Amino acid sequence: MRLTVIGIGYLGLTHAVCMADLGHEVLAMDVDQQKIVTAGRAEAPFFEPGLEPLLRKNLDSGRLRFTTSCTDVAEFGDVHFLCVGTPEAADGAADLRYVHAAVDALAPHLRDRCLVVGKSTVPVGTARRLLARIRSAAPAADAADLAWNPEFLREGLAVQDSVSPDRLVFGVRSEWAATLLRQVYARPLAAGVPGLVMDLETAELVKVSANAFLATKISFINAMAEVCETVGADVVRLTEALSHDERIGRRFLSAGLGFGGGCLPKDIRAFRATAMSLGVKSVASLLGEVDAINSGRRARVIEMAREAVDGSLAGRRVAVLGVAFKPGSDDVRDSPSLDVCGRLAQNGAIVSVHDPVAMPNAAKVRPDLRYARSVPEAAEGAHLVLHLTEWADYRAIDPVMLAGVVARPTIIDARCALDAGLWRAAGWTVRAPGRP
Ligand code: UDX
Repeated sequence: MRLTVIGIGYLGLTHAVCMADLGHEVLAMDVDQQKIVTAGRAEAPFFEPGLEPLLRKNLDSGRLRFTTSCTDVAEFGDVHFLCVGTPEAADGAADLRYVHAAVDALAPHLRDRCLVVGKSTVPVGTARRLLARIRSAAPAADAADLAWNPEFLREGLAVQDSVSPDRLVFGVRSEWAATLLRQVYARPLAAGVPGLVMDLETAELVKVSANAFLATKISFINAMAEVCETVGADVVRLTEALSHDERIGRRFLSAGLGFGGGCLPKDIRAFRATAMSLGVKSVASLLGEVDAINSGRRARVIEMAREAVDGSLAGRRVAVLGVAFKPGSDDVRDSPSLDVCGRLAQNGAIVSVHDPVAMPNAAKVRPDLRYARSVPEAAEGAHLVLHLTEWADYRAIDPVMLAGVVARPTIIDARCALDAGLWRAAGWTVRAPGRP
């Protein structure tokens, strides 16, 4: 099939590459000439394991091409995927300006029958309004139909999540659209991925409710960590015991510094704004609490840091391990770690940061912090070490070696991910939120 992808950010580039790899002819478009040039050289502008080799393979095969022209896009394909960003507006709601700009640029060129498929995360009701917008601008008014096919990509696992997702959601208005989407995804569907066909509004809600549920799970266990701290219990053992109940499960139940990144925080705030505008107070207040618990964990780590250095962070050397919003990513958008680094610096601490891949991105946002090439370099002379992003490399650190370079062997394991017994045996004072 001939498909187009509009917007080659994180979602769009991954989708375009994976669609080409499924055997489709793909033309991917972006208004940013620089992104098109970079992608055309088989370079991904972000760190995503496995993406670049697949990008190169599909460029070489000729199945994947890039353009900046909306006319080319309209002429090329039968199915147009909208993959532009929906950032957070000042009031927390989703800013739809890029979605509107994309359909306004595309619609006037749509002459033949085609399907526009939204993948971006949008407030419920957007799809139906977009269809009206497209039809009012398209020369053959009813040539275009619209469907919603939300993505569930996790950074670091984006290729896997694209080619073999847990489920495919098709929000449609017609059997024609459902059939076309089944053809697009014929290979994963044949491999057993469930394909769920539903109305547009329900499909829009699937994405935001999935992210709201995941965020709620994390905030629930972080709220339990607060209880554990108060009574001297251990949230890690509590989680282990809870997870044996299959109804609860183990995933998204790791307590610590809470969630960040380009999706979860933004999506729950946008969904909260939607719920408020719909007058659904229950969801608005639930998500407000989930967000507040999440921010509270960052403040708690600062409090623990202050206690660990006898009351004042001013002039203290603090080594920070991990600055990406999660391991396996170089993304620092709404990174809990980078937020903590900023608060440490604000309190007068001298912060030295290490991360296996995210330091260049962190340095763009916080050029004032010190960036070290290795863990020992970051920890040299430190009064306190903070473990803020749980990279596997940090679990492999030799605590005896690190005790030899710091000024004081105290570590706060804000992700509850280190072997505290091992570190204590090497002479370290170890503290972790929700753990004795
Ligand atoms: C998320 C969703 O998982 C994905 O389905 C959606 O499409 C986009 O948003 P992503 O942002 O890549 O994906 O990260 P994810 O792996 O979900 O982690 C989000 C945040 O939650 C990270 O900061 C992570 O450290 C934190 N987290 C995750 C926890 O604090 N505890 C957990 O148990 C799990």
